[in-house]
Amino acid sequence: MDTIKALLFSFFHLLFFLSGQQQQVLGHRQLYGFRPTKLFVFGDSYVDTGNIPKSVLGSWKEPYGLTFPGKPAGRFSDGRVLTDYLARFVGIKSPIAYRWRKIALKNLKYGMNFAFGGTGVFDTLVVNPNMTTQIDFFQQVIKEAVYSPADLKSSLALVSAAGNDYSTYVAVNGSAECNETENSLSGFHNLLLQQAVAKLNNETKDSAFVILDLFGAFMTTFKNKGSSKTENPLMPCCVGIGKDSSCGSVDDNGVKLYTVCAKPEASFFWDGVHPSQEGWQSVYSALKPKLQQIYC
Ligand SMILES: *[C@@H]1O[C@H](CO)[C@@H](O)[C@H](O)[C@H]1NC(C)=O
Ligand SMILES: *[C@@H]1O[C@H](CO)[C@@H](O)[C@H](O)[C@H]1NC(C)=O
Ligand SMILES: *[C@@H]1O[C@H](CO)[C@@H](O)[C@H](O)[C@H]1NC(C)=O
Ligand SMILES: *[C@@H]1O[C@H](CO)[C@@H](O)[C@H](O)[C@H]1NC(C)=O
Repeated sequence: MDTIKALLFSFFHLLFFLSGQQQQVLGHRQLYGFRPTKLFVFGDSYVDTGNIPKSVLGSWKEPYGLTFPGKPAGRFSDGRVLTDYLARFVGIKSPIAYRWRKIALKNLKYGMNFAFGGTGVFDTLVVNPNMTTQIDFFQQVIKEAVYSPADLKSSLALVSAAGNDYSTYVAVNGSAECNETENSLSGFHNLLLQQAVAKLNNETKDSAFVILDLFGAFMTTFKNKGSSKTENPLMPCCVGIGKDSSCGSVDDNGVKLYTVCAKPEASFFWDGVHPSQEGWQSVYSALKPKLQQIYC
């Protein structure tokens, strides 16, 4: 376990459409020459590729998955998410969702995705497994000898903590408004994360923990897009009609209570919280120079 290299994504939105806050890149021990053959993924909806049960509303309803694979498939986007792009970057298939580990056995070789949308490090308002439980699942899988110690040495762990802990705090404790004070909380979080990761890197011999600057990647994308394809990069493609509905909501008769824009590929955000496939692709492009620096 302690030989797995890890990429940590820290990024978070405070509330509905906007923006992420995130931090600086911190690369301590570099991953030069490291060629991962497996990804193990932990975290939330930014990296979940299908762990949420179909019975739980969210990523399994229309119009999610519209662009890829063409129907809802458990991703919180119209198509691919960050996990898929990172898997592509390291040259493997997107790792199988934990939930399907007993079904698609041949895909086990690319690692496993333990991320569940809506979750945080601490318990949030959703009942999905928190980070600790996800790691317990991982340890159980290791105990079952699905992966050998040698496998783990050539593995990369991706960790996304996009902000559900904070939105839960805000939802439970009030001050449900996005403002600069709260944005600066993001900066504070990010600073603490850097310090924590620096400490981790100092304490571990073989591991390399790296933070990728998702905040910068989002901002770069907003800047580029603002002038070209989209008029307002913060405007989501799929939005609810009325205050109690959101992307995918239907009324008691199954009538859609949301609208989907004509061109998802022209939107950065798919719904009020999650990037579209196009959005993730742009973020990935912005991250690529850093990834190449880490892996060259
Ligand atoms: C994570 O979930 C488990 C199982 O519900 C719970 O026992 C644990 O306290 C939670 N951990 C945190 C940090 O909230
Ligand atoms: C709400 O605030 C209290 C007091 O600061 C804190 O102990 C509690 O954990 C907060 N609730 C959530 C869900 O974060
Ligand atoms: C911004 O958030 C802080 C902390 O939650 C709160 O004290 C403050 O009143 C908020 N400011 C505005 C303008 O809403
Ligand atoms: C790294 O750890 C050593 C030994 O615990 C400590 O003396 C040193 O100050 C640490 N360095 C940093 C940069 O934290």
